[in-house]
Amino acid sequence: MKKKLLAFSLALSFSSASGILHAEGNISAGKEKAASCVSCHGDNGNSMVSTFPKLAQQHSSYLINQLQAFKNGTRNNPMMSAIAMGLTDKDMLDIAAYYAAQKISANELPVLDDEDEDDKPAEKKSGGEDKIQSLIAQGSDLYRNGDLTREVSACIACHGPFGEGNKPAAFPALRSQHADYIIKALTDFKSGSRSNNPENMMHMIAKKMTDEEIKAVAYRISMMK
Ligand code: HEC
Ligand code: HEC
Repeated sequence: MKKKLLAFSLALSFSSASGILHAEGNISAGKEKAASCVSCHGDNGNSMVSTFPKLAQQHSSYLINQLQAFKNGTRNNPMMSAIAMGLTDKDMLDIAAYYAAQKISANELPVLDDEDEDDKPAEKKSGGEDKIQSLIAQGSDLYRNGDLTREVSACIACHGPFGEGNKPAAFPALRSQHADYIIKALTDFKSGSRSNNPENMMHMIAKKMTDEEIKAVAYRISMMK
């Protein structure tokens, strides 16, 4: 009797796990399939090039959405489209499970190439650190509070207090992402060149942001752990 019950519950759990949305990827198969991604996205999904996004610790739901978007052409990037074209649904599931299980690396404080600094005598140079700290404070305020008068929504509402995102909703985690990539992503949303999200939420938000705000919030997010 006990055996029958066990078999029954196993059968139930298998049947509910069918279909790509509910299926679990296989992490070790994903690691093998991700071998071709290492050259750009780095070991364990921690890329060294700041315009190539880190994939480590990203929600599998979001990773799958983006790979599907590159494959069906709703998100355009010459490098990624060709690669996604060669992936099956199962490959995406496994690769996404692998990257979701990796740990994202922390970033160094960004260095500004501050023109004013060049004119200062050596002992007065701060490496632009004061300016960075004030940009980060500005970014922090925007992240938490948005700007109601200009209808810029607070990022915290969807991306969470620690930049952890939201897995069921497929809102991406942002913490410790490269600032340069975040700046590029927000600029692409702003111009509309990235518009694969059905409700286009990020376009509505980014188009109201100034370049300075984009930089400030990107620096803030890149320092979140
Ligand atoms: C030749 C370099 C290159 C290779 C190889 C590569 N990628 Fe990418 N990938 C990129 C670039 C560049 C972007 C950012 C595109 C953009 O700016 O919109 C990206 C973006 C992505 C994103 C979106 C991340 C996000 O935060 O939105 C995913 C997911 C991704 N790649 C997965 C993969 C996988 C899986 C592989 C291997 C099967 C792979 N990539 C191989 C260059 C590469
Ligand atoms: C209403 C919910 C919502 C709010 C508020 C929101 N976002 Fe997003 N964000 C999203 C969704 C959904 C995506 C994924 C879009 C897609 O699938 O292309 C996203 C994607 C992003 C990405 C791209 C991540 C990547 O890895 O490519 C960045 C960067 C980002 N958001 C920054 C912000 C910032 C900064 C703010 C605040 C100024 C903000 N978001 C506010 C929902 C939101």
